[in-house]
Amino acid sequence: MFNKKTIKDIKLKGKTVLLRADYNVPLSNEGTITDDYRIEQSVPTIKYLLQQQCKVIICSHLGRPKDKYDKALSLRPVAQRLGTLLKHEVLFVDDCIGEEADAAVAALRPGQVLLLENVRFYAQEEANDADFAKQLAHGADVFVQDGFGVVHRAHASTDAITHYMPSVAGLLLEREVTAISDVMDHPKRPLMAIVGGAKIADKIDIVKHFIKTADFVALGGAMANTFLLAEGIRIGKSKADPADRDLAEDILELAKKEAKKRPFVLYLPQDGVVADSLEPRARTRVVDWATHAFSDIESYPKRPNHDDAVVGADELILDIGPFSGAFIAGGMQMVQTVVWNGVMGVTEVAGVQGPIGPFAHGTEILLEAMMGEFGHKPYTLIGGGDTSAYIEQRGLTKCFDHVSTGGGASLDLMAGKKLPGIEALEDKKRARMLYNKSKHKQ
Ligand code: 3PG
Repeated sequence: MFNKKTIKDIKLKGKTVLLRADYNVPLSNEGTITDDYRIEQSVPTIKYLLQQQCKVIICSHLGRPKDKYDKALSLRPVAQRLGTLLKHEVLFVDDCIGEEADAAVAALRPGQVLLLENVRFYAQEEANDADFAKQLAHGADVFVQDGFGVVHRAHASTDAITHYMPSVAGLLLEREVTAISDVMDHPKRPLMAIVGGAKIADKIDIVKHFIKTADFVALGGAMANTFLLAEGIRIGKSKADPADRDLAEDILELAKKEAKKRPFVLYLPQDGVVADSLEPRARTRVVDWATHAFSDIESYPKRPNHDDAVVGADELILDIGPFSGAFIAGGMQMVQTVVWNGVMGVTEVAGVQGPIGPFAHGTEILLEAMMGEFGHKPYTLIGGGDTSAYIEQRGLTKCFDHVSTGGGASLDLMAGKKLPGIEALEDKKRARMLYNKSKHKQ
């Protein structure tokens, strides 16, 4: 249950609200927003605040700017896109603190929306600086945290800011935490977890968590390569973290122990799509290092070459193979819940033939299985980052039960960690006490 106060729990009529959103959206080289899912998902909270005749000030970060006015990371294009999605004018000011920002806030009338410039143009934001937070809070009566994607960071606009005014959750934050916590705490079983993506280090906690809580854990993406290394499988020049090989061995050991205690499967890819480069036109082949079925079939009636079941020294594993995809999709026919974080291959390489890239077929077969294309449709929770971006790009977001806007935040929440940006908000019961504390600090 979500135990923080939300905008529905307090009186907001006519108040000036500072809303923290996560508008850290992908941009093309020309500065065009290529995926507006995060912006779209922030709309219901803003609409609610407008119905309450609030003055709405929005702050956010975008990217990781190196210096103060990195114009490529300006939020100005977001103001325009938000205005389109909201069907309401969104004003923009070139700073988030100081004279210009204060003047724009002072000029705001009830029912108006103002987006401030990127808070990360100031190093004090990431330093969780109290004075910066105080300046950001200038003119606002209430703080609303709705940037789910950033609540795993203790920054000035997620943590320190809450010391300066009553601070509650927005509707997106509530929806995200409720959906993710419900599935993690009370999943309909059997529960399958699919974990992919680039780096093993980012996913260690979540994989360990799922080994304890899920019934079937499937690994894919570049992070699975480190596990293959730990199993003694040759991976050529595939992306991997050899320094984390011990970590992978420990996890495999943990999984073996779990499988002795109860019915449990940890599935590592048994085949992969390989190529010698990431070029969309590079020649691909399937290597089945575990079953040897493809190599036998393709070579029949001759004996297969040794290389047919071994990744070459100059090759890269860029996707899970069809056998592995079918195996996981088959397992999905028997589970009630699927939690997915991390794509299975290099999905960002565009296809030369049709919409599916050469290294996205593994991800696609799992998407189809999750959407019920093979008969059974489990409850589906997609945890942020590259997975949500891929689904959004394919226009399939509505086909899943919950597609999170958070990357690192959804991983941390799934792994049972406390998120500072949520902890800082008022509890449903303890609201008065916290408000007194904040007044005292002022
Ligand atoms: C995200 O995209 O995960 C959030 O916006 C947080 O961004 P960060 O990793 O740069 O803090």
